[in-house]
Amino acid sequence: EIDFFFPKQRTLAVIKPDATEEHREKILEEIHAGGFSVTQLKETALSREMAEEFYKEHREKPFFGQLVEFMCRGPCMMLVLTKENAVEEWRAMMGPTDPDQAKATSPMSLRARFASDILHNSVHGASNEQHAEEKIRFIFGEICPDAELNRDGETDG
Ligand code: TYD
Repeated sequence: EIDFFFPKQRTLAVIKPDATEEHREKILEEIHAGGFSVTQLKETALSREMAEEFYKEHREKPFFGQLVEFMCRGPCMMLVLTKENAVEEWRAMMGPTDPDQAKATSPMSLRARFASDILHNSVHGASNEQHAEEKIRFIFGEICPDAELNRDGETDG
């Protein structure tokens, strides 16, 4: 069966506070049209502490304070996307970090269409498979990708 040769991969996608209210439906349509399965989905307002932890890799960057402020200013949509090569494909769909660059190089990308500047750039995607799994665990608090199969009758916490 084809899944054996092209194993599915998961990534964490976030619709950021600047896009959640106005553009969420369009972004979700794009996600489905792009062939991703949305295997988990929730709306969450991050606390400051959660936003700091979520972006801890950027703690030393000059934009860290603004980034955290922005990420906890309103609700985000948190999604687990599943597809072959999901990490890379979702980042391609998002486009470059800076929407000016996105408009120049990938005008159909989500950031080219919905982002207003490099900070308020509408969407997040994990940058590699390890980050994807780490951030999925952080946001959704799950134990393992096959929890459904391994749960053995226990209910979710
Ligand atoms: P980064 O991980 O470099 O980009 P990406 O989201 O494309 O993986 O940066 C994380 C976020 O930090 C980015 O989405 C927006 C913000 N940011 C700024 O506000 N200013 C900047 O100069 C950069 C590089 C990022």
